[in-house]
Amino acid sequence: MMSIAVKEQLSWMNCKTSFLHSCNLFEALPADVDPAFRDLNRDMDPDFVHVFLDKLERYARKPDRALFLISYQGSIIAFATIIDTSPVPDDLDEQLRLELQACACGTGLMVLPEFRKKGVASLLVKEWTRWTQSRGLRGIWVVTRLMAEWYQGHFSYLQLAHIHRRDVVKTVLVKKIPSLQ
Ligand SMILES: CC(C)(COP(=O)(O)OP(=O)(O)OC[C@H]1O[C@@H](n2cnc3c(N)ncnc32)[C@H](O)[C@@H]1OP(=O)(O)O)[C@@H](O)C(=O)NCCC(=O)NCCS
Repeated sequence: MMSIAVKEQLSWMNCKTSFLHSCNLFEALPADVDPAFRDLNRDMDPDFVHVFLDKLERYARKPDRALFLISYQGSIIAFATIIDTSPVPDDLDEQLRLELQACACGTGLMVLPEFRKKGVASLLVKEWTRWTQSRGLRGIWVVTRLMAEWYQGHFSYLQLAHIHRRDVVKTVLVKKIPSLQ
């Protein structure tokens, strides 16, 4: 017989799966920027919402990068951005810098608070992988202040180095992506 704990776990997994099936992940076009900004900007620092809007516009428009959005019941609940070449921190050693120059860079990832821990960000991180593979790039690197363990534990990113930016310590991580051939 199944224990109550196992039943609860299965019921939670079913809810999560059915929620994720109702989510729609898509690559944004410029026309998607306004609704995305309207729905997501409440989780941004009010002093920097203009920077966020500018970023959404650039990632939806330029061919070297992508803005991925997730909609649920008519609203945008999450975004991720990725670019095929981003300036590599110059305080890394030369070998690491060369490796990262051959990789895409994940430059933004956010899920609205009430939709977290349901697998939404995992869909976006997998989409980063698909996008990177389709461009023949060797891997993905990210810089994060707080989520290094999460990238390592859930997505097998490897920690490369710590960097200091205005008294804040950040972690640089990378994941190699196998080529499609
Ligand atoms: C970090 C963030 C994107 C995660 O989004 P999410 O949709 O909750 O992530 P997922 O549900 O796909 O998480 C995958 C796994 O990590 C776990 N997880 C999620 N957030 C976590 C956290 N803060 N700490 C530890 N584990 C976490 C989930 O429970 C899940 O575990 P499981 O596979 O065993 O069920 C979201 O919390 C967020 O937007 N935070 C603010 C912005 C941010 O920190 N972005 C990342 C910047 S680099």
